[in-house]
Amino acid sequence: MNDICPTVLPQEIACAEVKSPPCGLVVFGASGDLVRRKLLASIFELFRRDLLNANFYFLGCGRSKFSDQQFRADAGAVIRDSLGDVSSDLLGRFIDKLYYVTGDYDDESFYKSIAARLTQLDRAHSVEGGRIFYLAVPPLLYGTIVEGLGAAGLSCPGLPGCERIRLVVEKPFGRDLESAGELNQILQGHFTERQIYRIDHYLGKETVQNILMLRFANAIFEPVWNRNFIDHIQITIAESVGVEHRGGYYDKAGALRDVFQNHMLGMLSLVAMEPPVSFESDRVRDEKVKLLRCIRPLTGQSANSNFVRGQYKAGLIGEKNVPGYRQEPKVDPTSNTETYVAARLFVDNWRWQGVPFYLRTGKRLARKDTEIAITFRKVPHSMFISAGLPYLPANTLVIQIQPEEGISLSFQAKRPGSKVCIGTLRMRFSYTEVFGGEPPEAYQRLLLDCMLGDQTLFTRQDDVEVSWRLLAPILQAWESQSSMPYEYQAGSESFPQADRLIESDGRKWRSICEA
Ligand code: BG6
Repeated sequence: MNDICPTVLPQEIACAEVKSPPCGLVVFGASGDLVRRKLLASIFELFRRDLLNANFYFLGCGRSKFSDQQFRADAGAVIRDSLGDVSSDLLGRFIDKLYYVTGDYDDESFYKSIAARLTQLDRAHSVEGGRIFYLAVPPLLYGTIVEGLGAAGLSCPGLPGCERIRLVVEKPFGRDLESAGELNQILQGHFTERQIYRIDHYLGKETVQNILMLRFANAIFEPVWNRNFIDHIQITIAESVGVEHRGGYYDKAGALRDVFQNHMLGMLSLVAMEPPVSFESDRVRDEKVKLLRCIRPLTGQSANSNFVRGQYKAGLIGEKNVPGYRQEPKVDPTSNTETYVAARLFVDNWRWQGVPFYLRTGKRLARKDTEIAITFRKVPHSMFISAGLPYLPANTLVIQIQPEEGISLSFQAKRPGSKVCIGTLRMRFSYTEVFGGEPPEAYQRLLLDCMLGDQTLFTRQDDVEVSWRLLAPILQAWESQSSMPYEYQAGSESFPQADRLIESDGRKWRSICEA
């Protein structure tokens, strides 16, 4: 395969990045995993990139006991650990904006002390009423915290300026249609939909957003982006990690709830939706939901015919022996939770009728690989039969989400040598080679957009409901079945039952090691 490196012409780049308005970011679960792994470093990066307004503060809230000074010292160390070389002066100026309040989530007085602290911080940092409440806590606590904020008068839905008071919640948004509806009732009891920002971090990834640019900022793709030219589409989220320290959560969720319902269906809707009339939040989100509504409804029978679930057993990842899923900490040793899902979906509309979408996601696979591969139809007739080439491989356009972010297109071309020497070449755009570095962490984009009040990359409630409704028959069928998921060895690429899903249609999974 050959790589052909593209050139970016500077005059053709349109980069509109806007600095955040004044605001206070109030984070519940501030000593927790998400804040330490992602949020602190992402906010600091916004500060370093001069995208954070000077009138900004961060108020951490949580059960762990910290003074402001202790929290600042801890946060500084976390940021250094994740970003490495950081100027002490810059870090010092950033951590001066951090504060902390300790309390119990179900204690009314906690919210009163938060309210009092906010009044004081708003004044000290002149944030002019901009406030974001970020729930970086397990979903079980969402209701308690939102009720607490509402009772303390901190949510103020319907009042003038209330749109500048925002609530951020992380997926999972419920665990099925019913619980998602219940959660939504609690959220909307105190915040309006305009105030609610549901984060699916996949939508914050540069390469996921690039699906929109590729499709709708070029004229050459749309004419062929349909059933007349496309044979099938494969969407893959393969991970080499296992459940890590999240066995307790994961064992109740499984791959269908953890990744398929949100990240995978999100990518499917972006790759298959109709062109939105503008790049405005509701115009884009309308099209996403419309596409999800076109997915052919599933039935209990589809759980066997169009879905395959698997669970990893012990194996080798690289050189390392890793335990099986049922031996992971906090996982039930008899668990039938799936760590792998493969599915075949159809989109019943004019554009996609008859085109299969194959989706798969799994943990402890051979390699991390997230990609969308669009395979075009084969040439209708090979004129090279006499040269021994009765079949020619189809063109495939691959949107590589991670790692090695980029786009590639494979095509057939003459190779030097004999008269009919044809081979597959790959034209490849590599994000790192062209832009000289890794794309920014998704949370930077999402935090900035939330501060700016742009909901385009956040999930709307109707999207959540449509996707849970679609998957309800599969969830019910798997819950009522006594059968176990198929086993696959940690470190493998796939397993026979998952292969059969696509091979029965005369196609093959792309290798996750090929990217
Ligand atoms: C999270 C899931 O939403 O996405 C995790 O809960 C998964 O189980 C993660 O590992 C994958 O995200 P990324 O950005 O590493 O592909």
